[in-house]
Amino acid sequence: MRYKNLLLVVLAVIFCLAMAASSPAQEKSLAATPPMGWNSWNHFAEKVDARTIREQADAMVASGMKDAGYVYINIDDTWEDKRDAQGNIQPNEKFRDIKALADYVHGKGLKLGIYSSPGPKTCAGFEGSLGHEEQDAQSYANWGIDYLKYDWCQSNRSVEDMKAAYTKMRDALKKTGRPIVFSLCQYGLGNVWEWGASVGGNLWRTTGDIEDNYESMAKIGFGQSGHEKYAGPGHWNDPDMLEVGNGGMNEDEYRTHFSLWCLLAAPLMAGNDLSKMTPYTQDMLTNREVLAVDQDALGKQGYPVVQEGPFEVWMKPMADGSTVVGLFNRSKEADKMTVNFSHIGVTGEAAIRDLWLKKDLGRFREKYNAYVPGHGVVLVRIKAN
Ligand code: GLA
Repeated sequence: MRYKNLLLVVLAVIFCLAMAASSPAQEKSLAATPPMGWNSWNHFAEKVDARTIREQADAMVASGMKDAGYVYINIDDTWEDKRDAQGNIQPNEKFRDIKALADYVHGKGLKLGIYSSPGPKTCAGFEGSLGHEEQDAQSYANWGIDYLKYDWCQSNRSVEDMKAAYTKMRDALKKTGRPIVFSLCQYGLGNVWEWGASVGGNLWRTTGDIEDNYESMAKIGFGQSGHEKYAGPGHWNDPDMLEVGNGGMNEDEYRTHFSLWCLLAAPLMAGNDLSKMTPYTQDMLTNREVLAVDQDALGKQGYPVVQEGPFEVWMKPMADGSTVVGLFNRSKEADKMTVNFSHIGVTGEAAIRDLWLKKDLGRFREKYNAYVPGHGVVLVRIKAN
C-alpha cells in the first residue's frame, strides 16, 4: 500500500514537471519567429469588411505570399457591434459571421486575427472588452480566431493599470485553451519592452502609429536602437505594420522600410491591398533572402554599429554565423558608404552577397564599399571563413 502511494506521488510530480516544462514552450512556439501576415488598418481603416478579408486571403495565396511565409489575415478596428442580452460581443453588419470568415481563411491554410481594446471603447470608438474579457476571449476561440491585437486607446492610466489589463486578457485567452497570438498595442508607453513578455505579449508596439511617408517610417525604424535585448523567440518588439505598396514612398524608400524591419526582426504585417500589387511590391514582400533575415531562427534583433550624420550601418547576427548588414543613406543624394569589418566583428576574408540583387559580390577583406541611393539601402550578407 505504501509503495502504491509513493508511486502515485512520483507520477504526480512527473506530471507537474512535464506540464511546467511544456507550457512556456507552447507559448514560445506561437511566435518562435516574428509573426508574418496582413492587417486591414493601414490601407482600408474603417472600410474593412468581410468581403475585403476574403479577397485579401485569396490574394495572399495567389501572390505567393503564403508560400513565402505570411500566414495571418488580421481584422483591425471597426468590426464590432453592441453586445447581445447575454453580453456577447456581436460583429457589425460589415462582418456578420466571423466564424464563417475564419472557416474560409482556414480553408486557405491561413489564420485569422482580430482586434479589441482593454477599455470601454476601441480607438475608433467601437465596443471594447472592459468587464467582458473572458467572454470575449471565449467568443474569439469559438469563432476560430488565432491572433488578437489588444489596443490600449485610453489616456491617464498608470503602467500598473496597463499591466493588469493585459494580464487579465492573457489569462482569459489562456483559459480558452486555444493558441492565440497576443499582440500588445499601447505605443511603447511605460517602456513596454521591459515588461511586455511578462504579461503574455508575443509582440508589443514600441511606437505611435506609422504613416506612409519616409519621415515617419525612418523616425520609427531608426529609432529602435536599444530595444534589441528585449526581443527573442516568442516575444518581439513591434515598430508597427508595413506601409510597403501603399504609395506614399518611392521604391528606394520602401526598400529601406522593408530592409530595416527585417534587420529589426520585426513582425511583418503587410498593410497594403494585396489584390492590387505592382510587381515591384510583390517581389519585395516575397523576397526569400530578405525574409530569411527577419525569420532567422536565432531571433536576434539588429542594431546600429555606425550612426554618422545621414549614414547608418546596422547589423544582425544570423544563426549560421553570418552577419547581415544594412548600409542606409538617410540623405536625399546618393553617396558612397563603407562597412568596416572591424565594426561587425569579422576578421580575415569574407564572402559577400547582395540580398536585393540576389547576387554574390565576391570575397573581401577589411571593408566593403557601396554606392547607396538617397533614402536607400544596400543589404548584404557577410560570411567570414
Ligand atoms: C490605433 C492603433 C492602430 C489602429 C487604430 C485603430 O491608432 O495604433 O494601429 O489599430 O488604433 O483604431
